[in-house]
Amino acid sequence: MRWNGRYDSSFGYVSAQGAPLVDLLDPRPGERILDLGCGTGVFSAEIAGRGAEVLGIDGSPAMIEKAIALHPGMTFIVGDGHDFTVADRYDAVFSNAALHWMGRDPMAVIASVRDALQPGGRFVAELGGAGNCAELIAAMLTAWREYGLREPELPWFFPTPAEYATLLEKGGFAVRLLEYFDRPTPLDDSPGGAADWVRVFGASLLAGLPTEIVEPLLRRVNELAAPALRRETGWMADYVRLRFAAVRR
Ligand SMILES: C[S@@+](CC[C@H](N)C(=O)[O-])C[C@H]1O[C@@H](n2cnc3c(N)ncnc32)[C@H](O)[C@@H]1O
Repeated sequence: MRWNGRYDSSFGYVSAQGAPLVDLLDPRPGERILDLGCGTGVFSAEIAGRGAEVLGIDGSPAMIEKAIALHPGMTFIVGDGHDFTVADRYDAVFSNAALHWMGRDPMAVIASVRDALQPGGRFVAELGGAGNCAELIAAMLTAWREYGLREPELPWFFPTPAEYATLLEKGGFAVRLLEYFDRPTPLDDSPGGAADWVRVFGASLLAGLPTEIVEPLLRRVNELAAPALRRETGWMADYVRLRFAAVRR
């Protein structure tokens, strides 16, 4: 999965809306905290600002390059959530809006997180939950079908609370808190609406398509999504979130 450079300017809401998650993490001065799927390091820096020592890990070299440039003096490395390893154990692993991109083998991700934590270490994260972007995805699938395209293989993993709690428990965690809630999110910086969302977050689905159909296909996605997601004030994404705090047994 490649993330393009528009990410921070056009989709800053991923970070802005997740802000209170750091309060749930409650980082303490001197703690060692790992930010998994750190992106450009917005949260890593916020956590470091509370006195913790932070390591940011992300699968995208472009994101890590940007994080290093934006936050001099902090440590960021490229690594895959499915199989990263660290030399010394951490007090907590934090993750915002990233675990749903690690759906190839969620148990492997949880096992890597567990191995990175000392016993009693915290795993605090937020990800897309079941039903996340259901209207957006329905519009995409319909448009793809209308254009005679094969049903796209969606790159996301949006578990139910029960599914993810079960994975966490099987993976050696005790779940202390698990929330599942709607978070309708204005696409403030996306004048192109649902189409812009697909361009950024569904880029891999557009990659193999004949170039001449991409724009009409995305226009059709907008037409189909508009009744549910376009308001007088602008486009609204139908986000559903899963947020949890778990402890390594
Ligand atoms: C929506 S961004 C969230 C970034 C950051 N946590 C934030 O809230 O601003 C998702 C991030 O997950 C990263 N990611 C996706 N798959 C990954 C994987 N398998 N391993 C590590 N990072 C991954 C992406 O590169 C991207 O930076």
